Amino acid sequence: MAQETWTAVDAFISELLAPHDEALAAALRSSEEAGLPSIQVSPPQGRLLHLLAKVVGARSILEFGTLGGYSTIWMARALPEGGDLITIEADPNYADVAGRNVARAGLEGLVDLRVGPALDLLPDLETEGAGPFDLVFIDADKVHSPEYFAWSLPRTRPGGLIVSDNVVRDGRLADADSEDPAIRAQRRLHEMLAAEPRAEATTIQTVGGKGYDGFNVARVLA
Ligand code: SAH
Ligand code: DHB
Ligand code: MG
Repeated sequence: MAQETWTAVDAFISELLAPHDEALAAALRSSEEAGLPSIQVSPPQGRLLHLLAKVVGARSILEFGTLGGYSTIWMARALPEGGDLITIEADPNYADVAGRNVARAGLEGLVDLRVGPALDLLPDLETEGAGPFDLVFIDADKVHSPEYFAWSLPRTRPGGLIVSDNVVRDGRLADADSEDPAIRAQRRLHEMLAAEPRAEATTIQTVGGKGYDGFNVARVLA
């Protein structure tokens, strides 16, 4: 029992609890047509991000890694009028697709899409005085997740959440001898969290349509 079952269960959950409307379906369709990799969060994961944004009453969200804007749409839909979501995407072609998907969802007034490698753009956000954020979703190049977390931590309000995707990677998180830079980065993120007095965190392993992986949730303390 493995992938086939996980996919079937994800389909059942998605159909009942995370159904697609026209804008979400169109976002996936246009992403596929444009040749983007199909690595967006699953529908139940998108729904979880949406619920977490509501739980923290998010008015201000930061996302690392937009792809075609699928997770962006799920999160932006939790924002109240006047809220904002800054999302950063390194690939200009992906960002074009995302911009159209976000606009089609009627969310362009809430979403501020920045194009470039996140580490290059963070100084601009700093200069602009962006934040404090209520929710941060780290889902870009996995080698830099610890740097994105370190930057976001002092810019997330107490009680806010920093969620990091893809931290388990088929269980390779447990491999202390891994030489894969992405795995080493996820291990380093966990070591940082263990020593971090400004946040409390846990990681949940997941299976589903996208295989075996997991996400970390960190809650920022006062
Ligand atoms: N959050 C999206 C999926 C993101 S996939 C969703 O769930 O719908 C990861 C994305 O990060 C890819 O689009 C990739 O181009 C982007 N990326 C890779 N390196 C990056 C970097 N240095 N800065 C910003 N984005 C980056
Ligand atoms: C993959 C999955 C992701 O959720 C992501 O953000 C990047 C890559 C993958 O399965 O390769
Ligand atoms: Mg991801």
